[in-house]
Amino acid sequence: MTRDRSDKLLDIAKRRGFFWQASAIHGAIAGFYDYAHLGAALKRKWENEWRNYFLSLDDNYYEIAVSQIMPEEVFRASGHLESFTDPIIQCKQCKTIHRADHVISDKLDGHFEGISLEKMNELIKKHKLVCDKCGGDLAEVGILNMMFPLEIGTGKLRRTGYLSPETAQGAYINFKYEFEALRRKLPLGLAIIGKAFRNEISPRNLLIRMREFTQAELQIFFDPDTITEHPDFESVKDYKLRMFPAKNREANRIDDMTCQEVVDRLGIPRFYAYHLAVIQKFYLEHLGLPREKFRYKELHGDEKAFYNKYHWDIELYLPSVGGFTEVAGCHYRTDHDLGGHQKVSGQSMEVNMEGKKFVPHVQELSFGVDRNILALFELALEQEKERVVMRFPRKVSPFDAGLFPLVNKDGLPERTRNIQAALKKAGFQVFYDASGSIGRRYRRIDEVGIACGITVDHQTLEDDTVTLRDRDSMKQIRVKVEELPKVMDDFLNGKGLEHLGVVIK
Ligand code: ATP
Ligand code: GLY
Repeated sequence: MTRDRSDKLLDIAKRRGFFWQASAIHGAIAGFYDYAHLGAALKRKWENEWRNYFLSLDDNYYEIAVSQIMPEEVFRASGHLESFTDPIIQCKQCKTIHRADHVISDKLDGHFEGISLEKMNELIKKHKLVCDKCGGDLAEVGILNMMFPLEIGTGKLRRTGYLSPETAQGAYINFKYEFEALRRKLPLGLAIIGKAFRNEISPRNLLIRMREFTQAELQIFFDPDTITEHPDFESVKDYKLRMFPAKNREANRIDDMTCQEVVDRLGIPRFYAYHLAVIQKFYLEHLGLPREKFRYKELHGDEKAFYNKYHWDIELYLPSVGGFTEVAGCHYRTDHDLGGHQKVSGQSMEVNMEGKKFVPHVQELSFGVDRNILALFELALEQEKERVVMRFPRKVSPFDAGLFPLVNKDGLPERTRNIQAALKKAGFQVFYDASGSIGRRYRRIDEVGIACGITVDHQTLEDDTVTLRDRDSMKQIRVKVEELPKVMDDFLNGKGLEHLGVVIK
């Protein structure tokens, strides 16, 4: 992360109440962050949008909530015990341990994740790379498992476990029970929003590389024979995806390709291509992020996670991290996980669909919530001529509205409290602010990205209307109090002010 920009973002996040380093009063440990009141609200809103959007893709998709401490057997079955490793390198002088691929990518141009240990050693020697802390020589590259181990219980009953490094395993180990409870239908989707833990060697870039973070993951269990089709493919076949295939890396070119072209030209099955489309629509249409800030990056060979057959990352353009940065992944995990759990547990993961027996395959949509929050935060921040504004997509703005009595007398505070109660009852997140000039109050909500301001004035007492001011355009309309919930709802869903009332000149 470019240091200045990262420091600036953290400074703003702290001052306004979005996030800061955890346990800071006792000396923070790198890679842990706490969300403050605005950050927690933003995160909750993003999670709710994710939940509503992805669970409504199919009637047979459900959310579950699982334990994140799991016995060692789970990770022997999933392959994490053996393969969930990062390359590390130690400084011979100050003994600091670095992530070896980062030592290289910090100094050389190119992409080095997933390259072999031999290649890393070769590059480090060839370019005479040294420890960035003390300038000392570096030892040979080794590997380290990234899971946090735990001893669970005591005495004879003690078992070794791990903090789960992904939410996904919780869905796999519960698949068979859910399949039965949900009357044996495929595809079956199990979503989990929960914590993941990784002992990252070099946590950095604020919420991008943490040691404890939140994932929102949807595991879709399906019959592998149906991978070449998706019942809703027709609805997305002409939809254009922003694709950055591995072969385009040198030219650094993103291709706009329809879903049908992705199938025909890249040999991607329709079931997978359909999910690329719905994920992109989530970012560009549902949240309304700018198209040019989004792309799909193909991972190939050693770059792919060890369990994936197809693996494209969702990247957003974040200058603070140096450009396009992974925030989510679309993974075709085959029967890798269910097959592993079947083998290690001795319990069958097979289903019997009208006489056909098979272990279902998994299509995974995996999102790092914190990375998405950092992206929203960075993309939202704008320094305009006369104000600082955070242009969050309206529906994930930390609060829906600020409510202001124009003056602190004449019954306006009471009327405003009244409206506040009604809006809260209708499910909106609003807050009351009566201090300072109205201009200052507007600036305060602009700075933290609250979607709109609602002002109650003397006219309200006469005709029961209020002023609604849009954070982004600063335009205002007059709205009847009784119509506020409907107007707010349309506004948060993206309708322009001019469609919601008469814009005040
Ligand atoms: P990276 O290559 O950056 O280490 P990854 O490819 O290991 O990430 P995945 O294992 O695919 O990431 O994890 C799924 C998602 O979880 C990622 O797309 C990312 O959004 C999030 N994620 C992974 N590691 C971290 C982390 N250390 N801190 C915050 N979010 C993370
Ligand atoms: N569940 C996918 C991942 O964490 O990479």
